[in-house]
Amino acid sequence: MKIRLKFLSSSLSAAALIGMLAAAGAAHASISSTKHNLSINGTGTVHSTNETEICIFCHTPHQAIKNDNIPLWNHTLSSEASYGVYTSPTFDGASTIQDLGGTDATTAAVSNLCLSCHDGTIAINSLNNPSNATGANPTMVGTGTGGVMPAGTSNIGNDLTDDHPVNFRYDAALYAADSSLNDPAGLTGVRLFNGYVQCASCHDPHESTNPTFLRVDNSGSALCLKCHNK
Ligand code: HEC
Ligand code: HEC
Ligand code: HEC
Ligand code: HEC
Repeated sequence: MKIRLKFLSSSLSAAALIGMLAAAGAAHASISSTKHNLSINGTGTVHSTNETEICIFCHTPHQAIKNDNIPLWNHTLSSEASYGVYTSPTFDGASTIQDLGGTDATTAAVSNLCLSCHDGTIAINSLNNPSNATGANPTMVGTGTGGVMPAGTSNIGNDLTDDHPVNFRYDAALYAADSSLNDPAGLTGVRLFNGYVQCASCHDPHESTNPTFLRVDNSGSALCLKCHNK
């Protein structure tokens, strides 16, 4: 650490260093300015009228819904029996794609976390462990009937057969089978989860700069071209 500081002080002015730190700070996503700030301070249509915490709608430090794939999850998972799976004559991932339906806490994949709100079947305020300050599920405005996701483009429903495939393996074998894919070992910007494409491969639910929580700004279809060599 001492050596590193010495290097920095000898090679950079203090002003440049402060500038770098500020830039690094700014590069962090700030979920508070997005539609995923569902707290009382959220500016989206859907938000709470009494809950000040932001993370709590999705995460909790204690009493999380536990499995090894999901990060300290706090939002009630959907019990939808089946979402179907994407299929087409040219889709080479068919052998590994798995239906996200019929899940419970032990089998949930990262995409099930998004679907816990976005399939429109579970109330947005339905939490495993509400905050101690309120001691109950938050009260909300802007939701649809029953407190679920309101009708509109954010309510993607319970049919994933017409959506970009998710919950399938994107590995060396798939890359070998489909010459129009980029090598999954060299992907940048996007993210695989245990080798699988999930909703959060393209979206980062905390992202505040790119529209619609995309990991990569899709101008010129730059997001698509991260994986597809077209
Ligand atoms: C609307 C739901 C939602 C909210 C609100 C939310 N997260 Fe997340 N978070 C997720 C999902 C889904 C994942 C898993 C996918 C991923 O990692 O991108 C995740 C993953 C994470 C991870 C795992 C590491 C990572 O970045 O992949 C951390 C840490 C995290 N969130 C912290 C936070 C904190 C801190 C807050 C509040 C400031 C917060 N999240 C708010 C949905 C949310
Ligand atoms: C706790 C509930 C919750 C979870 C979990 C959640 N979202 Fe959302 N999301 C919302 C709400 C509420 C909105 C705003 C809906 C509206 O205004 O009509 C939203 C909006 C969005 C939008 C639209 C943004 C825009 O600018 O129009 C996208 C994209 C999105 N979410 C993706 C995701 C993805 C991907 C995940 C999982 C990684 C996820 N969400 C997890 C509640 C959630
Ligand atoms: C292959 C990349 C990719 C995957 C995987 C993906 N999305 Fe998206 N999603 C996008 C892009 C790109 C947009 C923006 C579309 C536009 O602006 O025209 C988008 C838009 C959205 C929107 C905003 C409404 C809309 O139709 O534009 C929601 C909500 C959403 N995604 C949720 C999800 C959920 C939930 C999953 C998983 C079931 C998912 N996405 C998987 C790329 C993806
Ligand atoms: C994280 C990587 C990733 C991103 C980003 C991504 N895709 Fe894909 N996509 C895949 C993989 C992997 C497949 C499966 C290809 C196969 O096996 O045939 C696929 C499948 C598809 C298919 C179906 C192919 C078929 O044969 O039926 C289409 C079309 C497609 N993607 C378009 C898009 C578009 C448009 C975007 C941008 C909005 C996008 N993808 C973003 C990885 C990605």
